[in-house]
Amino acid sequence: MASTCVVGLQWGDEAKGKIVDLLCDQHDTVVRYQGGANAGHTVVVDAITYKLSLIPTGILRPGIACVIGNGVVIHPPALLREVETLSKQGVDFGDRLHVSDRAHVIMPWHLAEERLTEESASAADHLGTTRRGIGPCYRDKVGRVHGVRVGDLYHPRQFREHLERIVEFKNRLLTAMLPDFEPLDANAVADEYLDYAERLRPYVCDATSWLHNAVQSNRRLLFEGAQGSLLDIDHGSYPYVTSSNSSAAGIAAGSGIPTRHIDRWIGIVKAYTTRVGGGPFPTELHDEIGERIRRIGREYGTVTGRPRRCGWFDSVAARYSARVSGSTEIAVMLLDVLSGLKEVRVAVAYEDENGKAVNDMPGQLANLERCRPVFETMPGWDDDLTGVRSWSDLPEAARNYVKFLGKQIGVPVSIVSVGPERSQTIVLKEGDGK
Ligand code: GDP
Ligand code: IMO
Ligand code: MG
Repeated sequence: MASTCVVGLQWGDEAKGKIVDLLCDQHDTVVRYQGGANAGHTVVVDAITYKLSLIPTGILRPGIACVIGNGVVIHPPALLREVETLSKQGVDFGDRLHVSDRAHVIMPWHLAEERLTEESASAADHLGTTRRGIGPCYRDKVGRVHGVRVGDLYHPRQFREHLERIVEFKNRLLTAMLPDFEPLDANAVADEYLDYAERLRPYVCDATSWLHNAVQSNRRLLFEGAQGSLLDIDHGSYPYVTSSNSSAAGIAAGSGIPTRHIDRWIGIVKAYTTRVGGGPFPTELHDEIGERIRRIGREYGTVTGRPRRCGWFDSVAARYSARVSGSTEIAVMLLDVLSGLKEVRVAVAYEDENGKAVNDMPGQLANLERCRPVFETMPGWDDDLTGVRSWSDLPEAARNYVKFLGKQIGVPVSIVSVGPERSQTIVLKEGDGK
């Protein structure tokens, strides 16, 4: 054992990348198991900012192997661009990146299909996705008939035949539905993707078998979640979710590694809540406090640049997702952003429009939309936290706030983050935070 998972407990962007980077010291391999280039994980090391999207955050640490598992959906040009950008920033890939031949491939029609729904005349169809083709690619994976996997790119004759059938189908659909859609040429798409395949060849392997060997050799794996548990296709605020199991539920399916090998289950939360795109958000702030959090926390999407919606910490949601993701410890991130507020609030329960208590996270959108948060208000703190490096040096009000979050979630807090830099992190010791 000695493997760990790092999973977001909110609607994404909880600063998972920072914690994965921090924990690389104690692991040998970082594994992405779901999602794709919809993820944007920002890590700041010695004032240099790195943005990771498809590539596991471990690539920033020399000697750490990185696996893109079968559960990830890969847009080859996006992956090649990311390799190039990181290489230009001085990241040495060596032979550290391993891409599963079972992972599905995002094809040009997936991007067009997403445009179709996201730009449809009916606002009810808009989810506010990242438009990276994620949903349509997973749809074809599950539908089976039109799926393309990385391994298929290395069988050119069969790949061309498969593409002919798919392109014929997609052209008929998309020309009928999208007035400006230029029909695709199967051969041209095949040429383009076979070229990507050659460039990706050094990385592609049977990643499941690679990971099984790693486990056999007692390598310590670090599973890096993308998105957050509330965006999980099964357990999140459906339909305003992503198309994969972005809670810890996705780990075994998306990597081929049974979760009995994991002994640390770290749930990541911001000290408040954010969300990008559409969907219910009971504690959302529409006032100057929300704007202040957005400004100080620099809450703009890494992938799309969209302003993130901001609100108070939601314990009902975090308690639920900590259970779904089996969290055994919590990292509370961006605590510094709340400095300077006279009071801070935490939703401790919901109630419906009749004032009736709702104690569990509703599974139905209509019920969640009816929920109003019940807040507990606590004193804020003025001090700048970005230079604090120990639990005892945090102001008492900030310590009480963190303790309160841990109690509300029902899981102990083990890490507090007070700035984007690797060093701006407080690892709690026995007795702290109690
Ligand atoms: P991820 O997708 O979960 O990895 O999170 P993102 O990278 O999308 O968003 C987190 C943002 O917060 C990034 O810009 C980080 O550099 C930044 N960040 C991480 N930890 C802290 C912190 O403790 N304080 C502040 N102010 N920023 C942080
Ligand atoms: P990281 O890994 C925040 C959101 C989108 C949209 C919904 C569906 O950086 O935390 P999709 O393109 O996945 O079909 O969009 O999910 N979303 C994220 N929000 N962080 C992410 O990733 C996200 N990935 C997708 O904004 O609401
Ligand atoms: Mg992000």
